[in-house]
Amino acid sequence: MSILSGKNVLLGISGGIAAYKTATLVRSFIKAGANVQVVMTPASKDFVTPLTLSTLSKNPVHSTFTNDQDDNAMWNNHVELGLWADYFVIAPATANTLSKMANGTCDNLLLATYLSAKCKVYFAPAMDLDMYIHPSSVLSFETLKNYGNIMIPATSGELASGLVGQGRMAEPDDIVSFIEKDIISGLPLKNKTVLITAGPTYEAIDPVRFIGNHSSGKMGFEIAKAAANLGAEVILITGPTHQTVKHSLITVIPVVSAQEMYDAAHLHFNNSDIAILSAAVADYRPKNVATQKIKKKTATLTLELEKTKDILASLGAIKTKQFLVGFALETNNELEHAKLKLKKKNLDLIVLNSLNDKGAGFKSDTNKVTLINKDEEATVYQLKSKTEVAKDLFNTIINTIHA
Ligand code: CTP
Repeated sequence: MSILSGKNVLLGISGGIAAYKTATLVRSFIKAGANVQVVMTPASKDFVTPLTLSTLSKNPVHSTFTNDQDDNAMWNNHVELGLWADYFVIAPATANTLSKMANGTCDNLLLATYLSAKCKVYFAPAMDLDMYIHPSSVLSFETLKNYGNIMIPATSGELASGLVGQGRMAEPDDIVSFIEKDIISGLPLKNKTVLITAGPTYEAIDPVRFIGNHSSGKMGFEIAKAAANLGAEVILITGPTHQTVKHSLITVIPVVSAQEMYDAAHLHFNNSDIAILSAAVADYRPKNVATQKIKKKTATLTLELEKTKDILASLGAIKTKQFLVGFALETNNELEHAKLKLKKKNLDLIVLNSLNDKGAGFKSDTNKVTLINKDEEATVYQLKSKTEVAKDLFNTIINTIHA
């Protein structure tokens, strides 16, 4: 998953030879998880066919104001297209299209969409080397940058004319990673590392049995996705769960036992800015782990358990710059118990779940939380999806860090 996952990317194609690369560009955006629509200038259709692009983007391609092959001609709504887009990427952007964009000319659907788009606009110029450095092209680049549009500079190499120089459209994968980096650079958790623990831990009894719990890991995985979507580098240390995540900013570290989770958390804590410990760590583990499978020879079996290390408390004891968040799952005197944990474990924030609230806690897709800050101020939230709870959590963390 990339930061573009789930985002709407409108690709505007103008008429230059580099248009042949847009088939790959559409695929790269799709691979990044984006929804893609394409708007073409009439001239670009000489270089790449709408059929290729509609097949790859899985969406109809737009190029005219009306669909005139149809008796019931439909108005292609450029305003709607502009509003649909989270990002408008004009690639290749020819000298002609760039000049028209810079001057507000509106004689095709791509230009009308550009003028009505409210989203971030990227343009990747493609032209011959002398055109690229011509004062009028440079003026177009500068004007568009002053409008807040972002230029993805052309690269140097062999050009369609046979000349060698700057003017080649950036390669499709480079365009996608340029945009990903640019988006991340504007996000509130850019350059921050967030450490997250999630899921249960399994404590071995013998080679085939363990003590575990019903934690699904959903809350921790949602927190990891929310952090990555805010631009953070995420270290997600997870016990055994069915959850999966693929995101360019998330590194998953699978562990099994509380001790393994402890070791992994301590390894990464020093480099973290924020640590959120949502795992349901076993509090006790068998004191002696049988090396062979235990046979059912006796009527009863007693296991001696010993305490595991409290990961959260141990991090609270050594924290320096880190913003440390813990979870508390309580059944009675919830606020009081959660506040005690906040103090005892030296936390900056604690997320309280009450087992008395329907739809809160383990396994479900929803959660109902109360966030308690260092000053013991409690904010009660409604029952929400875990995705929304994760967003609320980061709103609070970001507001507290920037306060
Ligand atoms: N936690 C941890 N390591 C442990 C036990 C708990 O990091 N060995 C973390 C959990 O991830 C959670 C918080 O501590 O963020 C709260 O855990 P909880 O078990 O509710 O609290 P305890 O302090 O263990 O108290 P009690 O079980 O008695 O309520």
